[in-house]
Amino acid sequence: MQEHIIPHNFSVDIEQLKAIKNHNPFLIWFTGLSGSGKSTIANALNQCLLEKKIHTCILDGDSVRKGLSSDLTFSPEDRRENIRRIAEVASLMINHAGLVVLGAFISPYKRDRERVREIVGADKYIEVYVSTPLEVCEEQDVKGLYKKARAGLIKDFTGIDAPYEVPSTPDIEIDATTCTIEEAASVVLTYIEKKLVSNG
Ligand code: ADX
Repeated sequence: MQEHIIPHNFSVDIEQLKAIKNHNPFLIWFTGLSGSGKSTIANALNQCLLEKKIHTCILDGDSVRKGLSSDLTFSPEDRRENIRRIAEVASLMINHAGLVVLGAFISPYKRDRERVREIVGADKYIEVYVSTPLEVCEEQDVKGLYKKARAGLIKDFTGIDAPYEVPSTPDIEIDATTCTIEEAASVVLTYIEKKLVSNG
């Protein structure tokens, strides 16, 4: 299938993009249970980055699953394909647009997160584990999905009848029950500040 695909040699390169944007591009990957606060923290961080004139794009499960991945279920295979597509999109945004990409996806399987790291490159991947406990996510149940999952109305729901594999070595871990959203965003911001401007 790939045999007759010959990529075009585009002349604008990543160094030119860095120079015009005045910062490095990379991916900040938020993983954690549904309702753990991934998108909320990513949104607060996105706001801070905008104020610092950093060029970003934010992607999250609910928005991607409405469009790009609307043909996919929550089976392990489809989650894998969902995460692969997002990683490829993020890679284009990094390398062809020079953006800092904020991705908020449950991404429950270690091997799928590992693949994201491989696709975008280890030096451009920052993993943020939002470790808000299941009991809290379920108690708050912002979207009412845990209740439906417990009632058997949603199958393969992460944390209920589908697994979540805890990251062993995330760059950052945030339990959203122990800090405010602004504090959580600030922890990530402090972590990435050097990476935004370093030459390495
Ligand atoms: S992932 O597992 O493939 O990474 P993704 O982050 O795209 O998941 O989508 C998760 C969102 O889809 C959840 O926040 C929730 O709103 C919704 N959702 C619907 N069905 C499920 C399910 N079975 N398991 C988890 N989330 C689900």
